This record gives sequence, structure tokens and C-alpha cells, in this order.
Amino acid sequence: MLLNASGCLDALTAPDVARSLDAYVTKTVTPLPRGGNEPVRIAETDLGMLNSIGLANPGLDRFVDEYLPRLAELGVPLWVSVGGFSVDDYAQCVSRLDAQSEVSTIELNLSCPNVDAFEEPTAEIVEAARAETSKPLYAKLSPAVPDVAAVAVAARDAGADGLSLVNTIRGLALDERTLQPRLARGAGGLSGPALRPIALAAVYAAYAATHMPIVGMGGVETGRHALELLAAGANRVALGTVLFADPGVVARIRAELVQETSQHGFASPGNVTGAAHAAGMDAPEAVESTHPVSA
Ligand SMILES: Cc1cc2nc3c(=O)[nH]c(=O)nc-3n(C[C@H](O)[C@H](O)[C@H](O)COP(=O)(O)O)c2cc1C
Repeated sequence: MLLNASGCLDALTAPDVARSLDAYVTKTVTPLPRGGNEPVRIAETDLGMLNSIGLANPGLDRFVDEYLPRLAELGVPLWVSVGGFSVDDYAQCVSRLDAQSEVSTIELNLSCPNVDAFEEPTAEIVEAARAETSKPLYAKLSPAVPDVAAVAVAARDAGADGLSLVNTIRGLALDERTLQPRLARGAGGLSGPALRPIALAAVYAAYAATHMPIVGMGGVETGRHALELLAAGANRVALGTVLFADPGVVARIRAELVQETSQHGFASPGNVTGAAHAAGMDAPEAVESTHPVSA
């Protein structure tokens, strides 16, 4: 039940890390290649990391022809994240990926804070994507909306099978000396520890409103952090910024999670989903790891 967060692991340069996950999530792919934003695109802050990568990717054609066959050799289920600048961009990506047997799940990135102009209309995009695929379809949402539960319900009603929560939230870092923004673009997406309570609140609200399968992410650095996302309602957890600091972290977090789980009296992490909610809610089907660790 441990995944990487989109854009936080290059599986082709770190195949062993990718293989230690239960599924690998690609960086967001768009129909056309994108170089991304001007550097500087990454800045550390005392509460996490700011990035303004801007959806740099090789584009759909090269992704399908060159990258997908190599990713398939990893032998882990592949989730492909797709993005775009119009409803049709998403539909085009999903339609193409639907024909690729290597792709297990499609994640719609409906929440990139680092590109201009397109306010993603969640329901419209999910509906258009749904029409193009029978593969599991996840909607990745921003926590920076007034009511994430309402957006989650809209995604579900438009045909999403699950939710990925959360993407980064806009933040700014200033240079100590010049007091100018440290990222060339100004603001960027904040990830890491500062996102933890924000992610927990989003997962908690979305689960209560929808009961959908949820990939929880945002600042996870320990098994305890993962446990809390499961209790809030996630049935999978994704690791993002922590992978930049320590690519070997997957095994540690997995072991800690199993230990935390049994300390809290649960038979396995799959049983923790929704535990933070009042008794009597039906959890979605438990997702067990393919990398069991004994407690
Ligand atoms: C450098 C970087 C690149 C990212 N690229 C993407 C991306 O391409 N698509 C996407 O949906 N999310 C992207 N994200 C967001 C992460 O997938 C994740 O939602 C976010 O970082 C929160 O998790 P974390 O606090 O564990 O990093 C990126 C995050 C970082 C730090």
C-alpha cells in the first residue's frame, strides 16, 4: 500500500526504490513535451520544500513509445499521472493510455499549482476521462480549495474510482540577503512536513463525504505519519519529498507502519482505514502490501 508521489521518484534512475513500492506513479505526462519553468525551480524551507517544476515531461508520444516499455520492466504496477491545459488534453492522454496494457491506473493531476491559466474543472475533466477508459481512474486534488469534500464528491459523481490527496499548496520563500523570491517564478508548491495536517484534514473530509479509496500523501516521513493518513481514511499512502532526502526510506517506513499498526491493535495496515472516524462507517476494501514485513 506504499506508493511514491508523482514527480518525486525517477524509477529509471532508481529502479530498486521503485521496485520496493507497491506501485510506481509517474511524473505527470501532458500531450505535448514541456521543458517546465525557468530555474531556480527548487528551494528548501525550514518547513519543507518549494518547487515550481511546471510539469516538465517528454510528452505523451515519447512517454508511451520510450518510457512506458522501460517502466514496465520494473515489474511493479504502473500508475500514470496525466495533466493538461484543456479538458481535451486530459481526454487525449487517457484515451491513449487506455490502450496500453502496462498501465494499471490513471491519475488525473487536477491540481498543479505551477502552471498558468487553466483552472481545472474537476467534474468536466473526470467525466471526459471516464468516457475514454475502463482502467481505474484517480483524481488528484488540491488542498487549497474552500471545500475539498465537495470537490471529492464532484469527482466521484463524474466517475472517478479513487482520490489522491493532496497535491502541494502555494508557498513563497525569500532570499535571506536580497529579499527577492528564491524561485525564478516567485511562488511554488510547498511539500513536506508543513503539509501533514493539511493532508490529514483533506483525507478525513473526503473520506467522510465519499468513502472512496484514497491515496493519502503530504509530508509523510515516518510510519506514524502513514498510520495517521490511513486512520483519516486513506487506504494507500504515497511518499513524496522524503524520497529526495533518503531514497532508502521505503523499507523503514513500511516496517514502522507495521509496528505502529500492531501497537494500535490492528491486524494489518489494511484494517486501519477510517479508524479516526466514528464507528459504523464501512471502509473500502483493504489494500495489503505485496511487500509484507513481520511486526
Ligand atoms: C519536485 C516535485 C515534483 C512534483 N511533481 C508532481 C507532478 O508532476 N504531478 C503531481 O501530481 N504532483 C507532483 N508533485 C506533488 C507530489 O506528488 C505530492 O502531491 C506532494 O509533494 C505532497 O507530498 P509530500 O509532502 O510527501 O512531498 C511534485 C512534488 C515535488 C516536490
